[in-house]
Amino acid sequence: MMSARHFLSMMDYTPDELVGMIRRGIELKDLRNRGVLFEPLRGRVLAMIFEKSSTRTRVSFEAGMIQLGGQAIFLSPRDTQLGRGEPIADGARVMSRMVDAVMIRTFAHSNLTEFAANSRVPVINGLSDDLHPCQLLADMQTFLEHRGSIKGKTVAWIGDGNNMCNSYIEAAIQFDFQLRVACPEGYEPNPQFMALAGDRVTLTRDPREAVKGAHLISTDVWTSMGQEEETAKRIALFKPFQVTRALLDLAADDALFMHCLPAHRGEEISEDLLDDVRSVAWDQAENRLHAQKALLEFLVAPAYQPA
Ligand code: CP
Ligand code: NVA
Repeated sequence: MMSARHFLSMMDYTPDELVGMIRRGIELKDLRNRGVLFEPLRGRVLAMIFEKSSTRTRVSFEAGMIQLGGQAIFLSPRDTQLGRGEPIADGARVMSRMVDAVMIRTFAHSNLTEFAANSRVPVINGLSDDLHPCQLLADMQTFLEHRGSIKGKTVAWIGDGNNMCNSYIEAAIQFDFQLRVACPEGYEPNPQFMALAGDRVTLTRDPREAVKGAHLISTDVWTSMGQEEETAKRIALFKPFQVTRALLDLAADDALFMHCLPAHRGEEISEDLLDDVRSVAWDQAENRLHAQKALLEFLVAPAYQPA
């Protein structure tokens, strides 16, 4: 019964499946740009549970479902019984009898695994404290569009060893690139992901060393959702890790800069960085839509036949 395929982490798919999904994202983007209606998910419903705020994830999943011919339901813990203590397993059993897929943005990653274990339908990780795999689909699509295959390239992650960084580690394994992480002491990525990556990932305290000759540089906010009370401490500690134009100058000549957004200009990036020609942050944000439509097409069964 619990045989649905989920997308909780980049490790849930084979490298070939991931590359296939990204290539499909590029095709779906082209269809949309050419104004072609493509509605394989007519009559299908995605439930979206958001325990944290979101702009991109919500809009891209909701718009994506509508464009594919389906619908999306937005659920906040303020409105559902999950927010009043109904067990996750019960919510999963019930919702998965009514909808065709469930996207969840939550705190503890175990909330996702518990929901998935009790769901008849695919469960998608829309960000947890540990991982943000949907963002990596968009990032990998963006690199492919701008520079071709990322295999064998060098990527620098600057700043916090957070959920995005963990997903970059998984991407390094699956897409076969070298990842250099530059973070302050005590803010390293989860050792469990580091161990999985072996020598594909290296750690340094020096952002310049990480960026040297790199083909892609990425960063993220210093204070993730749920860590707000640590903001002042983090701003002081992370200061040497700000990504600036001068830092990017140490990278490869054709280096790209990515930021999953939202950005805090003047903190993890200099005020002007998103305007730099090397920044592809807006393409990257747009690709959330296309990459996730490919994911939905892959996970959700095609439309019903006419009666
Ligand atoms: N990058 C990202 O997931 O953005 P949102 O928090 O706006 O969804
Ligand atoms: N690391 C950030 C990513 C936001 C998309 C957070 O978890 O808040």
